[in-house]
Formats: sequence, structure tokens, C-alpha cells
Amino acid sequence: MFWKDKVVFLTGASSGIGEALALAMAKRGATLGLLARREELLKELAGKCDSNGGRARYYAVDVTDAKAVANAAESLRSEFGKIDVLIANAGVGGNDSETRLFNAAAVAEVININLLGAVNSVAAVLPQMLENKNGQLVAVSSLAGFRGLPKSAAYSASKAGMTAFFESVRLDVQTKGVSVTIIQPGFIKTPLTSGRANQMPFLMELEDSIPHFLDAIENRKKFAAFPWQMATIVRLARFFPAWLYDEIAGRAKFRE
Ligand SMILES: NC(=O)c1ccc[n+]([C@@H]2O[C@H](COP(=O)([O-])OP(=O)(O)OC[C@H]3O[C@@H](n4cnc5c(N)ncnc54)[C@H](OP(=O)(O)O)[C@@H]3O)[C@@H](O)[C@H]2O)c1
Repeated sequence: MFWKDKVVFLTGASSGIGEALALAMAKRGATLGLLARREELLKELAGKCDSNGGRARYYAVDVTDAKAVANAAESLRSEFGKIDVLIANAGVGGNDSETRLFNAAAVAEVININLLGAVNSVAAVLPQMLENKNGQLVAVSSLAGFRGLPKSAAYSASKAGMTAFFESVRLDVQTKGVSVTIIQPGFIKTPLTSGRANQMPFLMELEDSIPHFLDAIENRKKFAAFPWQMATIVRLARFFPAWLYDEIAGRAKFRE
């Protein structure tokens, strides 16, 4: 019943987690605004959502373009009267030689998309949610944001920033009818993680991960981290002294 009357603005909808989540929400009767850059994929997905019990509109927009994101949200709102849930999911891995070699422009691009893109998305929906004293902001952050990971400086920084940003926003809106859910997944099989030669610990199948996202949103959890094995390791690692953390994490090879 949760999704039936909900209008959801979902970024990063054209593939991976966003695509699978969109279909799952559509099957539960949600109305969706699907945002990403690749229009053809969005169009196809919107058709599937429509024929699976939902209603979908799509917006071929780059999340780094604040005005275009705001216009997309306004278009969805003006047609359906409100936006109940924002899912800030658009993101890139930055898993390339440029960010590894500390090319500042390449690092900035990852942070622009993953962190500032999410900020643009919040800005596009929050004023109306506060006015209505109702709404939910959802961040698809990552376990990679708990501590720095090897060969992931840009990505880890963007996700640490995203988690901190949404937690700070929660403190400011918690008494104003708006809830904030921060989702921190481990490794999930999507285009973002495909093509990596090394084994990723506790890698989840995409379809197995979707119930975790739905459960976190439906129950308006403050945080949801999964799979539990990876979440436990990462939580414990937060308390390791630097010498021990460096010794263990420095040897991790999942981004070779
Ligand atoms: N897969 C994992 O293991 C994992 C783990 C933890 C967290 N996450 C997070 O989950 C989110 C989704 O990732 P995924 O694994 O599903 O990867 P994915 O399949 O590559 O999907 C990424 C989505 O983000 C969109 N996107 C990227 N840059 C964008 C931009 N500038 N403007 C608008 N949309 C943009 C992409 O669409 P277009 O290219 O069409 O724009 C695509 O729809 C990301 O934030 C990622 O960091 C993933």
C-alpha cells in the first residue's frame, strides 16, 4: 500500500539499481519521474513501468545541471500535484585511471555527479516538501563512504560527503514533516561494478538487493546498510586504529 499514492522522483533511473527499483515501485502502483541522461533507455523503462501497474514520466537531464533538475521536478509536480519521495541515486564509480592518478578534474567530475548532483536533486524537491510538511529524501550512498578505500579516493569522498550531507539535512528537517533515509549498499552487480577483474566481497545480485531498498524506504529508516556481512565489517573497521586499518584495507584488491 505504501507506493500506491506516492509520486517518486528518481535520479539515475536508466540502468542498474535505478532501473530495477523503478520497475519494482511501478509494480506496486507508484507514479514515477525518471531522470538520467540516456533518453532512449528512460523511454523504454517508462513504457515498462506504465505496462506494469505504475505511471511514469521521464526527463533526459544531467544531475549536475541544477536548473534542468529543478525544471524536471517542477514538471512532475505540476502534473501530479506533489512529490512525495526523492531517491537521489544517480552516480558514477570513477573507477578509472584518471581518478586514481589524482587528476583533479576527474575527481571533481565524480564529486559533481555523486554529491552535488544529489544536492541539486534535494534543492529541486525540498522547498515544496517543507511547505506541505510531508516528504521523504532518500540517498543512495555507499558503504564506501565509511572510511577511505584503496583506489577509490574520488568515489569514497563523494559518498562520505553524501552521507554527511543527508544526515545534516535530516537534523534540519526532522521536526518539519520530512524524513531522510540514507542507504549504504555494499557491492551489487550492476553496470557500475561490471568488468572488474577482482572478486568483490559479498557481491549481491541486483534482484536480491531491491527488497532492501524498498524496505528502507517504506519503513522510513534513517540508515540502511547491506549486505549485513559487509556492513558489519565496515562498521567494525570504523573503530580500527589507523595502523591496523591501513594494513588491512591497503591490501584490498577489489578495484585492481
Ligand atoms: N553497484 C554497486 O555496487 C553500488 C554500491 C553502492 C552504491 N551504489 C550507488 O548506487 C547508485 C546507482 O549505481 P548503479 O550500481 O545502479 O550503477 P549504474 O547502473 O551505472 O547506474 C548509474 C545511474 O546513474 C545515472 N547517472 C550517472 N551520471 C549521471 C548524471 N550526470 N546525470 C544523471 N544521471 C546520471 C546513469 O544514467 P545515465 O548514464 O543515463 O545518465 C544511471 O542511470 C550510484 O549512486 C552508486 O554509487 C552502487
